[in-house]
Amino acid sequence: MKIESNAAVRPADTESDAPDWRDDFPILREEIGGKPLIYLDNGATTQKPQAVIDAEVAYYSRRNANVHRGVHTLSQRATDDYEAARSKIARFINAASPEEIIYVRGATEAINLVAQSYARPRVKAGDEILISAMEHHSNIVPWQMVCEQTGALLKVVQINDRGELDLEYFARLLGERTRLVAVTHLSNALGSIVPVERIIELAHAHGTPVLLDGAQAIAHLGVDVRALDCDFYAFSGHKLYGPTGIGVLYGKTALLSAMPPYQGGGDMIRSVTFEKTEYNDLPYKFEAGTPNIAGAIGLGAALDYVSGIGIAAIAAHERDLLDYATAQVEEVAGLRIVGTAAHKASILSFTLEGIHPHDIGTILDHQGIAIRAGHHCAMPVMQRFGIAGTARASFALYNTRAEVDALVAGLHEVQEMFKR
Ligand code: ALA
Repeated sequence: MKIESNAAVRPADTESDAPDWRDDFPILREEIGGKPLIYLDNGATTQKPQAVIDAEVAYYSRRNANVHRGVHTLSQRATDDYEAARSKIARFINAASPEEIIYVRGATEAINLVAQSYARPRVKAGDEILISAMEHHSNIVPWQMVCEQTGALLKVVQINDRGELDLEYFARLLGERTRLVAVTHLSNALGSIVPVERIIELAHAHGTPVLLDGAQAIAHLGVDVRALDCDFYAFSGHKLYGPTGIGVLYGKTALLSAMPPYQGGGDMIRSVTFEKTEYNDLPYKFEAGTPNIAGAIGLGAALDYVSGIGIAAIAAHERDLLDYATAQVEEVAGLRIVGTAAHKASILSFTLEGIHPHDIGTILDHQGIAIRAGHHCAMPVMQRFGIAGTARASFALYNTRAEVDALVAGLHEVQEMFKR
């Protein structure tokens, strides 16, 4: 199967604010309880364009074989497609080489890989790992585990009431013992865009490498790992219009080369005897076992799709939606936006006075509107704001102002129901 760019990609119809892009997503024609689906839970996972679905079907229909193993033609084809997707990913984030792209299950596995293969062997008791107060659990718990294993300390940079990372606090916490900085690029709970350029500059001035959790950012901000000069970048395919179960760890070659393998098994070795095993080259050293071949190919198709529209056009459309939604929800009595950073993307978290976020989510679901409600796997963020959770609308390229209007009407309905 050739992974071709999606010829069906069309520009947004800015006049009517109804991107033709919607037509590329078959699920958007679904109804929920007799109402048209309004999908505003893109921070959890995005929907998939037909091009991605087709790529997976084509792989299983015509190309399925294991990769890097067979001398037969089908295996060669599968390997070519799998590696072509890796090259697309490298181009998408401007990595220096496809060797710097490690396939993993998702952002969570990428961060765990760095925690266990980079940090654990290097970090000593009393050393420090620096994260922020707005991390997802997947960028907290792996570091807590390393701290438990090594006696290192986890230091947390605070955020202000708007949900912005305090850069002065960060500079103060950076010290002689800081061995790694791991921060989100875009907060999943608050929508804050973190000033990662400055963080990387400050950390590098101390000789400290930086991992960015790009799980949210990758679909909304243009990511250029070489311009950022980050040392590691982690993201999932499924938040970028790709399949679940596939994600990426980007790492600089020098760092990845010096790291031991994460898991042992087939494909990650060059030779094995009972006395000694020689590990494979990058990136295979980190890819033990049969990988998610269809997922990688699907992710390649997703990148073709997104590149066909352009991240800049997607970001502009989502910017308009977020600004519009922010203004519209301000009219809803008792609504408080949680996360009012000066620089935000795609995510609108809020509470409604006296109404539990789960109730908001459930009542909106009856109107066909899918949002996320709860702590968003970021309990410390909720603790910082003194709340149990929020309701969260998160936007993608196919959402429209009309859907925002439906959300606002839905929120009025939620309030009416609670008055009765
Ligand atoms: N981390 C994903 C979210 O924020 C699941 O919803």
